[in-house]
Amino acid sequence: MEYNPFDHQTQANPYPVYQWMRDEAPVYHNPEIGFWALSRFDDVLQAHLDAATYLSGYGPMIERMDVADVLVATDDPAHAWHRKLISRLFTPRAIAQLEPKVRAIASDVLDAARERGELDVVLEYGGYLPMMVIAEMLGIPMEAREPLRRLSDRSLDRSNVDDPLADAQAASIESHEILAQIVEEKRRHPGDDIATLLLTASVTDLDGVERRFTPEQVVPHLMELMAAGHETTAKLIANGVVALTWYRDQRRELIADRSLVPAAVEEMLRWDPPSQYQGRWVERDVTLHDVTIPADSRVILVTGAANHDDRVFEEPELFDIHRRFDRHVGFGFGIHLCVGAALARLETRVAFEELLARFPDYELGGPIRRAYSSNVRGLSNLPLILNPGE
Ligand code: HEM
Repeated sequence: MEYNPFDHQTQANPYPVYQWMRDEAPVYHNPEIGFWALSRFDDVLQAHLDAATYLSGYGPMIERMDVADVLVATDDPAHAWHRKLISRLFTPRAIAQLEPKVRAIASDVLDAARERGELDVVLEYGGYLPMMVIAEMLGIPMEAREPLRRLSDRSLDRSNVDDPLADAQAASIESHEILAQIVEEKRRHPGDDIATLLLTASVTDLDGVERRFTPEQVVPHLMELMAAGHETTAKLIANGVVALTWYRDQRRELIADRSLVPAAVEEMLRWDPPSQYQGRWVERDVTLHDVTIPADSRVILVTGAANHDDRVFEEPELFDIHRRFDRHVGFGFGIHLCVGAALARLETRVAFEELLARFPDYELGGPIRRAYSSNVRGLSNLPLILNPGE
């Protein structure tokens, strides 16, 4: 058997090959593409916790693109103060205050769709809501939001099998140019937003030195927050809508008891995580399960496989909002644990509360297309009929 994360059939359903890897090849090697993969929950967790061995500095994907100055591709010591600067803007307390705004955006979209009786969850709801929220937080002007959203979709797109990176680099460069102009504008006219804070705020590093970003560093960090802030949440919401189409009894339970929605969101993150693997790099030999990964190798931590490990999760292929578990790796773990986890949880919870309150009987309304991307798993469209009985 072979694990090729770019293969369209594998992307349609990677879970059987994940099971094979966990059971038969827990230290999997794909010499053609050039990577190693860890798939068991405990191995993935340990690798997340050992950031000195499993380095992030070569980027989060298998492909070696030019790595920008972003949190997810920075190792310590720089990561520690970069993270300190950024994470304090996304604390659960700060995020909780956004709830009325998130709810208002979700309500507006759904109320507008009521007349039409249909909604594309990816294009109009799951993709739109997180993008509007993060763009507002960052201080991205309205007219730049849609172009940046399309560019970030393009930079993740790998549907061209012959030359998967053909368009990705160009799209990243274009995003960079738009954001550089926005940062320049914020330097001249500071706003009440994260872009301005990243230009002005400082933190005390572990060595006691006061540090701050240069304007050139602010640009890629904004780009990361903008892309990470909407791509994955958009996919999670749509993957969750699919789950509740298959598991209707659980949909009915959520409608009857809203207090179950947070647990359902956690199960969505475990069951079909939008971020399927995290790229790492080892600079020294690492031996695990009697196999040695040689120094200077790409290693991926397969989140989707770890979250389905039956050594940890009973009947992992089943979606079950009553499942009890105290951790999963859907947001990663350790020093690179998702900065936006509280925001993503809030957005997804509110998205489902509002959708289910208005349209409890939604049905799929047409063919679904998968987005073929690097490490983000999800759909590129998901049409729903909102009130099928009417
Ligand atoms: C359902 C939605 C989301 C999922 C599934 C997700 C998943 C992840 C994962 C797996 C990582 C770890 C990467 C690694 O270990 O290499 C991560 C890191 C990160 N996420 Fe998220 N994320 C989501 C939403 C967000 C949001 C809303 C933001 C916006 C603020 C965000 C910003 C980031 C950043 C900046 C990092 C890098 C953190 C670091 O390296 O220290 N994410 N995310």
